[in-house]
Amino acid sequence: MNSIRIKDKQFVTFLPEEKILQAVRRVADDINRDLADTQPVFVSILNGAFMFTADLMKLITLPCEVSFTKVASYEGTSSTGRVKELIGLNTDIEGRTVVIVEDIIDTGHTMKALLETLRARRPKDIRIATLLLKPGKLQVDLQVDYVAMSIPNEFIVGYGLDYDGLGRNYRDIYVVQEETEENASN
Ligand code: IMP
Ligand code: MG
Repeated sequence: MNSIRIKDKQFVTFLPEEKILQAVRRVADDINRDLADTQPVFVSILNGAFMFTADLMKLITLPCEVSFTKVASYEGTSSTGRVKELIGLNTDIEGRTVVIVEDIIDTGHTMKALLETLRARRPKDIRIATLLLKPGKLQVDLQVDYVAMSIPNEFIVGYGLDYDGLGRNYRDIYVVQEETEENASN
């Protein structure tokens, strides 16, 4: 098992690249089958989903578009108190089948807000494809159409996911190791 250190934390291999790619292939097969008669727009959520998006799109055989966006969240004056803005999404999704491509759904609040923002642009259909889901952390009612892998409530990095901006470049996924007195002193 490979071990890496990022800042104050130690991580160990959790999902090796070949396992990730197997799971990505399953999602691609499902999407190719389910959306066979459509020309979807894949909307990839930066930064975390960049690696998943690249591997997924290489396996999609449908005629499709791929667009990238960033979600900016700030306190607003609306009744919800929080406003999510999509930066850089310049594809017109009105009347289109949209597949959101996300790295991880944890509490689900980010995805819920994102769905509302995208729905306001009046697509015909919105599907969610996530590389990872933490079912034990989910706090909102969400229909997640495609889940490559479900994982326990632990913090992970690699394959696009970061710890404080670092670790996105690893091809495997690593899980944080509990601090014990032994490895705290190392
Ligand atoms: P949610 O709104 O709680 O679902 O948060 C989702 C966001 O939190 C993701 O898009 C990630 O940026 C971040 N996140 C949640 N869990 C992890 C993790 O285990 N590692 C790295 N980032 C995570
Ligand atoms: Mg993310």
